[in-house]
Amino acid sequence: MHPSLPGSLPEALPGSLPGLPAEPLPEPFRTRTPRLRTARRPAHLVGDTPVLWVDEPFAPPGRGFHAKLEGANPGGIKDRPALHMVREARRRGDLAPGAPVIESSSGTLGLGLALAGLTYGHPVTVVTDPGMEPAMARLLTARGARVVQVAAPHPEGGWQEARRACVAELLARTPGAYCPDQYRNPDNVASYRPLAAELIAQLGRVDVLVTAVGTGGHSAGVSAALRGILPRLTLIGVDSVGSAIFGQPAGPRLMRGLGSSIHPDNVAYAAFSEVHWVAPAEAVWACRQLARRHYASGGWSVGAVALVAGWAARTYPAGTRIAAVFPDGPHRYLHTVYDDGWCREHGLLGRTPPPEPDDITEPDASVVTRWTRCGRVRDPLARDLTKAGAR
Ligand SMILES: Cc1ncc(COP(=O)(O)O)c(C=O)c1O
Repeated sequence: MHPSLPGSLPEALPGSLPGLPAEPLPEPFRTRTPRLRTARRPAHLVGDTPVLWVDEPFAPPGRGFHAKLEGANPGGIKDRPALHMVREARRRGDLAPGAPVIESSSGTLGLGLALAGLTYGHPVTVVTDPGMEPAMARLLTARGARVVQVAAPHPEGGWQEARRACVAELLARTPGAYCPDQYRNPDNVASYRPLAAELIAQLGRVDVLVTAVGTGGHSAGVSAALRGILPRLTLIGVDSVGSAIFGQPAGPRLMRGLGSSIHPDNVAYAAFSEVHWVAPAEAVWACRQLARRHYASGGWSVGAVALVAGWAARTYPAGTRIAAVFPDGPHRYLHTVYDDGWCREHGLLGRTPPPEPDDITEPDASVVTRWTRCGRVRDPLARDLTKAGAR
């Protein structure tokens, strides 16, 4: 049946979303805005990402969260900071026209930098480690980036430190080269103002924001911008087991994107109300449930964020408006998260997460190996405590 014929589609979404008016389903083949919508440059496709309502099985019907689908950007969430960091470095004169850009990335920022390189005319080198999925390395190469892989982890700082050392070495021998340094660069944080503005335009208000934490960029940037108009916003951070960011000892990490073996300067510790650590099997379960029940899914950070946002939707009072940032889509993870053989090999299948996380009173009270939350967040290095509040 032709989709525009009566009866072929329900006329409204089944049930209205809490606090939002019931919306009719879009009519296929009829444009809402008559103006020309063709992007002139790929960078113009960045931003204005959609939001999807997610409820079951993470929360009962009527209770759920709004997922901001950053995987709808050409490369992923990091298109935003990559373009902004390169643009600002050019404006300041730190990056000369045509000069090389060299950066450490597990992949998503690399894709963004490849886009920035194409947009502004810079060769891009992405330094990574053997954990990068071969498909991601190929995609980066296809999009014009040079991929350099470090061979061994740093004895104390792990793979991240090894990558940073490699970047330093490459910078030293490449005249004029510029490193955005996403772990410390305030432009990484500042690039997320538009994402916050989009959330306000899409949701009206946000009471609870759930974000993954890697460099700390999007949690710091989105929450700071939202708090400008919503000072009572609650920010929940989502990290990986084995990550050192919030005070746990660094350990082996299967999950990519979120987590770190270092303590990035961009993490706004004082901005968080609580932190959750999630284990790989729990993220796999959530990713697969998202794909099956909601079509939109993603990688490790998406699964971990969905698990925690679903918990928030069950735990906070009804009517609380919860937004969760989904940093990317599923395609990069088809040979890991969505591969039964790979998951079985790593013991990640058949483990439904418990309804509640474990609870610890201090972030370093014990070494966590499964979904755990802590209501106290502090900088393990006790750096300038006023920094995050001032942002
Ligand atoms: C897929 C993915 N999720 C989450 C994150 C964490 O985001 P942020 O660095 O803004 O803390 C990253 C960072 O690289 C990422 O690539």
